[in-house]
Amino acid sequence: MNDKIADTMEFPPETPQPNVYPLRWETKSSKVEEIWDASLREAWNPKDLAWDTFDPSSYSWEEREAIAYWWTLLSVFDASAPPVFAAAFIKTYEDHEEDAIRRCFFSVTRDEQNHEQMCGMVITKLLESPSPLEYEPKTELGRKLQKNARWLYYNGGRYWEGYKKAVPKYNLAVLFSSFLMGEIAAATIFKQMSQNCEEIVFTEAFKLIGRDEGRHMAICLALMERDYPNLSAEDKSIITKQIRAGYLFLPAVLYEPPAEFWDLPEDFIETQREAEALARDAGFGIPKPEEKRENWRNAMLDLKAVLDKYKTPFPAIPEVGITGEEVTQADIDAADIIPIF
Ligand SMILES: [Fe+2]
Ligand SMILES: [Fe+2]
Repeated sequence: MNDKIADTMEFPPETPQPNVYPLRWETKSSKVEEIWDASLREAWNPKDLAWDTFDPSSYSWEEREAIAYWWTLLSVFDASAPPVFAAAFIKTYEDHEEDAIRRCFFSVTRDEQNHEQMCGMVITKLLESPSPLEYEPKTELGRKLQKNARWLYYNGGRYWEGYKKAVPKYNLAVLFSSFLMGEIAAATIFKQMSQNCEEIVFTEAFKLIGRDEGRHMAICLALMERDYPNLSAEDKSIITKQIRAGYLFLPAVLYEPPAEFWDLPEDFIETQREAEALARDAGFGIPKPEEKRENWRNAMLDLKAVLDKYKTPFPAIPEVGITGEEVTQADIDAADIIPIF
């Protein structure tokens, strides 16, 4: 125990910063207060969906494994989102962020937990097993998909250490650009999936998840509006690089994983496309590769419009035909990447 000092002075010494609790409840931006209220109003429970209408046995085993694979792909991101946002949430306390902003990050953490739970429930019902990595595949395609899933899991796992180092290193304004990229992309894909799925639990879930992602996007935009007009040149250049790095990481679920960062076997894409076509024919509306590319390009253009507004250079993304500042492989250190979800 420390030596007692209270009887030697009237007031205690200054508390070293960053101290994790601010004891201050001020909110300057009314927008985030509204988003927080919406997050409570729009809260939902995955268990309350119309599960009684969902009969996995109405699908063939190949179809079940193909649909479960898509949810597994999603869960590589969504199962890491709760700890990722929990870390950002703690940072809002350390940084003594505005009260409602702290609450907003709490809501994102909660929402992502719901999304993860949803992935888990669908996968468990489809595969009759709590883990896509451990269950016994039922078909040849299922075997190949489990191999894919193992490689996805391996690749996704490499980013947590980098993220933990990145969070204290960058200010929240820099982190927002990465988060926003993920939220824009997520809102796009879920909207599309909700329109193209036949199964009621899926359309319901995608609508709800998409609405959550829309709020997450709004949180990022509100904070950027506050912070971006005063960004330093150094922060701007980090953001440009982060966006390029984010492009390389995120497309595994939204488009197809670029080979630069994803260490995957040669037959990976072919297997994934085969499963996606099968799932699509079974009424699970995964966009076709060209549609995914178009979506992803539009999401990037939306993000570019935001960054342009704040005069922050956007990286060139030749993969989807977007010109901008050249960011080479050498500019991006895997250890510095802020993964986005
Ligand atoms: Fe999510
Ligand atoms: Fe999100």
